[in-house]
Amino acid sequence: MNPSSVVPAKAGTHPSASPNETIGIGVGEPTHTRGPTEPWVPACAGTTELRAERLAAAGGVRIAGVELSEPLSPELKDAIWRAFLAHHIVVFPGQFLTRGQQFAFAGNFGEVEVHGAHRGEAKRYDVAHVMSNLDADGNPVLRVSKAANYHWHTDKPYHAAPPMLTMLRAVEVPPTGGDTEFANTALAYDALPDQMKRRIAGLRVVFRPAFDESRPVVDHPLVRTHPETGRKALYFGNHSTHILGLPEAESAALLGELLDHATQPQFVYRHRWRAGDLVMWDNRCLLHRLVADDSMRRYRRVMHRSVVRGTVPV
Ligand SMILES: [Fe+2]
Repeated sequence: MNPSSVVPAKAGTHPSASPNETIGIGVGEPTHTRGPTEPWVPACAGTTELRAERLAAAGGVRIAGVELSEPLSPELKDAIWRAFLAHHIVVFPGQFLTRGQQFAFAGNFGEVEVHGAHRGEAKRYDVAHVMSNLDADGNPVLRVSKAANYHWHTDKPYHAAPPMLTMLRAVEVPPTGGDTEFANTALAYDALPDQMKRRIAGLRVVFRPAFDESRPVVDHPLVRTHPETGRKALYFGNHSTHILGLPEAESAALLGELLDHATQPQFVYRHRWRAGDLVMWDNRCLLHRLVADDSMRRYRRVMHRSVVRGTVPV
């Protein structure tokens, strides 16, 4: 992977110009260039110089050399947000934040879900929460239930206003395996034949938590429009039960066909974790899954997660 150079954020500026001039994130060519590719978008037009590297044709950018444990300057916050909207997945290596610091970082982007808030004010902790493959004795275990995050999903789509973004920070990771894959459902939508786009326009998907079938259902547009970029993306995956108003078999076949389409290699970025990686991603235009492999029953995998609230999908 080539380290990227810093490039002008807009025509007429140049990175070798005076330090006060506007300089954006330079993004190198993706390592995977076959098939549909995210349009190259200058990741930011702020005044902060960042080292950045594009990760895949399907999206993703790696930003090194920033310290997320400290309060962000307005310029850095803006640069990160632009990179996030342009590339959907932002990887920050070497971040060793406390759970409280991670919670504070996530708060730059909106209202963060509070750990334990549903159990009342006394149980409320303003920290990132812990996700692991460990059992009660601290031993690794591979649990593949229908609710497991080994299935392609977007986070908490069964809420009326599902989270806009999720971030995970790798605390302990297996020496191999335990990767996370991300599928770009905006690119996948763009690549659909017009006939299919017409067929699915206006359809709504019913969601219910796969871990609790007693919960009430919600429904969201199968093709949602990103509230900030205006791009259309498929919104479905695990926790979706059926398409409203379609016969059961037709609904299942259509959801299956769309999932097969959206998770083809050209739409996918696979993240190999290293301890200290903090990855934030846009739930509004991505599916993701933890790749189930033998490492999950052999090695500890501990992540700290923060989730930022989103809006009602339209
Ligand atoms: Fe997830």
